[in-house]
Amino acid sequence: MTQSLLHQILDYANRANPYPIYEELRKTPVLHMDDGPYVISTYHEIRSLLHDPRISSDARNLTSNAADPLAEPAPEESALPPGFLRLDPPEHDRMRRMTNRPFGPPHSPHRVDGMRGELHDIVSGLIDGIADPSRIDLVEEFSYPFPVTVICRLLGVPREDEARFHTWADTLAASLDPDPDADPSERGKGSHDARMQLGMYLAGLIEERRKKPGDDMLSQLATAKGEDGPMTTMELLSTAALLLIAGHETTVNLITNGMLTLLRHPDVLERLRADPRLAVPLVEELLRFEPPVQLVPQRTTLADIEVRGVTIPKGASLWLVLASGNRDPLRFEDPDRFDPDRRDIQHLGLGSGIHSCFGAPLARLEAQLALSELARRLENPRLLEDPPPYRQNAVLRGPRHLPIACDGIRPQ
Ligand code: HEM
Repeated sequence: MTQSLLHQILDYANRANPYPIYEELRKTPVLHMDDGPYVISTYHEIRSLLHDPRISSDARNLTSNAADPLAEPAPEESALPPGFLRLDPPEHDRMRRMTNRPFGPPHSPHRVDGMRGELHDIVSGLIDGIADPSRIDLVEEFSYPFPVTVICRLLGVPREDEARFHTWADTLAASLDPDPDADPSERGKGSHDARMQLGMYLAGLIEERRKKPGDDMLSQLATAKGEDGPMTTMELLSTAALLLIAGHETTVNLITNGMLTLLRHPDVLERLRADPRLAVPLVEELLRFEPPVQLVPQRTTLADIEVRGVTIPKGASLWLVLASGNRDPLRFEDPDRFDPDRRDIQHLGLGSGIHSCFGAPLARLEAQLALSELARRLENPRLLEDPPPYRQNAVLRGPRHLPIACDGIRPQ
């Protein structure tokens, strides 16, 4: 029974609609998969574990990962040290603070909002470039190139190099996808090589930025002299890799899931077309209803912890199913209804606690601009395939393609 639920979450056949499985999961809020991870599926329990200092994000604290299909290779075998997503305080806090200096308040309060005009131009250019309105693959033509261009500009990574790091980023994103039947050493080797190549590529770039700094984040991080001191080269490399990957493997899915959901709710699409201000609450509801990060698999207990009467032993692996918590009827009224007018919306789509999404303001702005412009400019858009074909990945979930048609493109 437990094994079959695990397989059901991971089974590609359920990718288009995993929500009935999550409903089943919530009947046992703390579910121990045969000698493997403890799966937590209810809102309050997930949230409280995300805030619990006895929970670690550092894989080195994992003692019982043998049966966890998501267990990563030990960091010392890995080419790059872990990014701050996989560190605990105080290292995590120091790295996050240093990375935030050129990105957000208090030192850079206008960085993200200052990109609004540039983001708008990228969106307009991509919509203008749509070749055939009668057959658009929204992923290829819009949702993927948009966040990639944005994160490249922000970091100062040449957009022309996209073809090179796309393959490494895809391999690393795919390494998060648990395949219980795959050979773990092969999976580990693929992601090790990809991290190594990405690391070498970024090292070259950082070297260039040190010699000739620009106004991009990589230059600023490479030359920073804040109160936390400069980052070491290895710290800089792992932070740059984290931002590059986290910055585009998620937003692509938020935009695609968003357009898919809007096309399934034409009344909401029409409201957005008439009033782009709806984009703000709409994106929050999307992060609840169809979150691009479905589950957080990399957490470990630093002590025995009791959750809903179950003792989770020290060193155990935890999976926190954010997407299930977001549909928990004990937290959200009528959770399976997509409702952008929902008032009480503290979703888990961007995580919670000290590891909550670093790029949240940028992710939100990108999705708000993308969806409001698509709604405004595509004339009479409709889905050509429902459900569309999904990516294999159960953790970073989203359509691989989104074939849509429209009657034409309205002028800017
Ligand atoms: C729709 C887009 C996005 C979604 C849904 C998303 C979601 C998340 C989630 C759920 C976490 C928490 C993971 C955990 O607790 O283990 C997280 C962390 C993080 N995200 Fe995002 N993210 C998005 C976009 C971005 C962007 C654009 C960036 C970079 C500019 C970014 C950078 C990060 C980083 C660095 C962390 C680690 C934070 C820490 O450990 O302190 N994300 N994100």
